[in-house]
Amino acid sequence: MTSITIIGTGNMGTALSDLAGRANAQVQPVGHDDEPGALTGDIVLLAVPYPALADVASRYGDQLAGKVVVDLTNPVDFETFTPVDIEAGSAAAELAAALPDARVVKAFNTNFAATLSAGSVGDAPVTVLVAGDDPDAKREVIDLVDAAGAQGVDAGPLASARQLEAVGYLQMGLAITEAIPWTGGFTIAR
Ligand SMILES: NC(=O)c1ccc[n+]([C@@H]2O[C@H](COP(=O)([O-])OP(=O)(O)OC[C@H]3O[C@@H](n4cnc5c(N)ncnc54)[C@H](OP(=O)(O)O)[C@@H]3O)[C@@H](O)[C@H]2O)c1
Repeated sequence: MTSITIIGTGNMGTALSDLAGRANAQVQPVGHDDEPGALTGDIVLLAVPYPALADVASRYGDQLAGKVVVDLTNPVDFETFTPVDIEAGSAAAELAAALPDARVVKAFNTNFAATLSAGSVGDAPVTVLVAGDDPDAKREVIDLVDAAGAQGVDAGPLASARQLEAVGYLQMGLAITEAIPWTGGFTIAR
């Protein structure tokens, strides 16, 4: 059975727990105030705000070595609603540099929480775009998504996280201006 640890118990943590449940995966939720203990999942989903990634990396870094670590952040300055300028190119690249022994993957940042809980965007299955440099790590995340009845799509190397974060920002802007609902968003029709 696939085992997942989800750090962060907010909107995305809850939605990813719903998705993992549909995939019959075992889920370990880890809250902000939990004493740092053993992370049991083979895949660790970081359902935390972008500024918390550095804290998570320093708190759990040793334990994350060798694991598939999924960054789903959209790095946005919410005071100005502008993308955060990240020297490494993306939040995921920055995380990978902070966790050189982890297998970092970018995924789920282009999906609103409600669509991951529902498993659909309108009448279509949710598309989860997955980027990373470790093909096996990427495959594990795509298999989890597919097992939940959504469609995982290989979106290329971790360098593509920069584009995924731009898509996440664009989609958020569309929802804030009410061009789309928070239950909608981008998906891929095949
Ligand atoms: N919501 C969406 O539809 C959506 C879509 C795509 C991507 N995302 C991305 O997903 C991430 C989570 O978003 P969200 O909507 O789930 O936010 P949220 O509802 O505010 O939840 C964030 C969670 O992270 C926890 N947290 C904060 N700092 C932490 C730390 N240092 N260590 C451990 N846990 C920490 C929070 O705990 P406390 O509440 O106790 O601080 C909370 O449980 C963000 O990066 C966001 O950009 C969200």
